[in-house]
Amino acid sequence: MKKGTVWVLGASSGLGLATAQAFAASGWLVIGGARSFECRDLDREDKLGFICLPLDVTNEESCDRFVRQAFEWSEQVDILVSCAAMLMLGSCEMTSTDEYTRIMETNFIGTVRMVQMVLPHMRKKRNGKIILFSSINGLLGIPFQSAYTASKHAIEGFAECLAMEVKPFGIGVCVVEPGDHSGGSTHTRLHANAESDTSPYSAAYQAATKVIGKDEAKGLSPDKLGAKVVRNAERRHMRFRLRVAKLDQHAAVWMHDVLLPSINAMILRQYYGAK
Ligand SMILES: NC(=O)c1ccc[n+]([C@@H]2O[C@H](COP(=O)([O-])OP(=O)(O)OC[C@H]3O[C@@H](n4cnc5c(N)ncnc54)[C@H](OP(=O)(O)O)[C@@H]3O)[C@@H](O)[C@H]2O)c1
Repeated sequence: MKKGTVWVLGASSGLGLATAQAFAASGWLVIGGARSFECRDLDREDKLGFICLPLDVTNEESCDRFVRQAFEWSEQVDILVSCAAMLMLGSCEMTSTDEYTRIMETNFIGTVRMVQMVLPHMRKKRNGKIILFSSINGLLGIPFQSAYTASKHAIEGFAECLAMEVKPFGIGVCVVEPGDHSGGSTHTRLHANAESDTSPYSAAYQAATKVIGKDEAKGLSPDKLGAKVVRNAERRHMRFRLRVAKLDQHAAVWMHDVLLPSINAMILRQYYGAK
């Protein structure tokens, strides 16, 4: 007997995969979506421990198909976890508007699209939980991650509005704010096309990407984060903010909120290797 049904978007790797597996281990029926999932790949499902359905959150038809197929597996959706995202590095000037659009379409609009698809079902049964993955970058900016940072700030604002609107329907919302975790998007990382050796930002960019890579390599364990997300989801009333980060990243959020912006920016620029 399963505890209920969870849909996890972006469940093929990193924190989405760890979260899907943590829900499955806790006794939930998990339906995971990702672009790289093939239709009914039973070997893969067996290995991962949950049902895998193809999903591209940037494509309306693909989302419709995912929802239809998921309801064939289980008539209900109790929890939606939205992890699907892409990270692109590049300076604000060299990241093209097409590149900004691609990141916003995946990280923000994709999330909104899937939230809109589950809400009618959750409202009808006056019950449900929506868990949206933001980031420490949803709370502060760091150099050369502006597209990703903007998309995560958008998630933060959306989640606050959503929580207020859906509470009367018995639907809870949580925004997960991970700091650096190992094994995540490092291998799928995108770089803005124009951010080449001839870019005026090249030296600072190289220095910052080195620091970003080092921080990720020393990051926290995705499995522990998955377990924390499940514990929060299983509470009667979820905590709205679930920040899972090392002490220095908690401190960075605190400094961002209390220091003069110029002092905060100076500290961050130095940390990311600016000369
Ligand atoms: N790792 C960290 O340190 C960290 C820190 C802060 C926040 N986060 C957040 O945690 C979440 C997971 O990140 P991660 O680092 O674990 O990244 P990841 O390993 O790159 O995983 C991203 C997931 O999103 C899926 N995805 C990407 N585009 C998609 C699309 N258009 N439609 C459907 N699925 C799509 C990918 O699968 P396919 O490629 O198969 O589609 C993959 O399953 C993200 O929201 C990220 O912003 C991560």
